[in-house]
Amino acid sequence: MSACKKKVLVNEAELVRIAVEARRNAYAPYSGFAVGAALLAEDGRIFTGCNVENASYGLTVCAERVALFKAVSEGARRFLALAVACGAGPCAPCGACRQVLYEFAPDLLVIMADGEGKSWCRAKLSELLPRGFGPKDLGKNPD
Ligand code: THU
Repeated sequence: MSACKKKVLVNEAELVRIAVEARRNAYAPYSGFAVGAALLAEDGRIFTGCNVENASYGLTVCAERVALFKAVSEGARRFLALAVACGAGPCAPCGACRQVLYEFAPDLLVIMADGEGKSWCRAKLSELLPRGFGPKDLGKNPD
């Protein structure tokens, strides 16, 4: 690491707070289950997401993937932590989101909070998706 590169620390409480705020934008008229996400990039930027449902149910996109795709589309590819806020108790990202996040950040810290951010727990993405399939399995190491 170069001398002038700042190390970003993960402020869990702040990331959870931002995920809870993002949850307010959830478009979930079918499930009524609002989810918010906040993804911290290595450069310190935080990208938010909420679930966006669709009348054609299968086209719904989860909060985590909205946050990740926003981030990648803004040039971020390295991530430190993700906070997810939903439901009555902390809930974990769905399998599809785990796979999509694994592409960019197998060691991601995943902070799982309830919908109001009153409590949370944490796990590494590699624990949530053990032996995940990623770029290395295709002999690739994209930047
Ligand atoms: N949902 C997410 O946004 N993230 C997850 O990890 C699990 C599920 C959304 C999808 C759908 O809009 C609602 O929660 C119920 O499944």
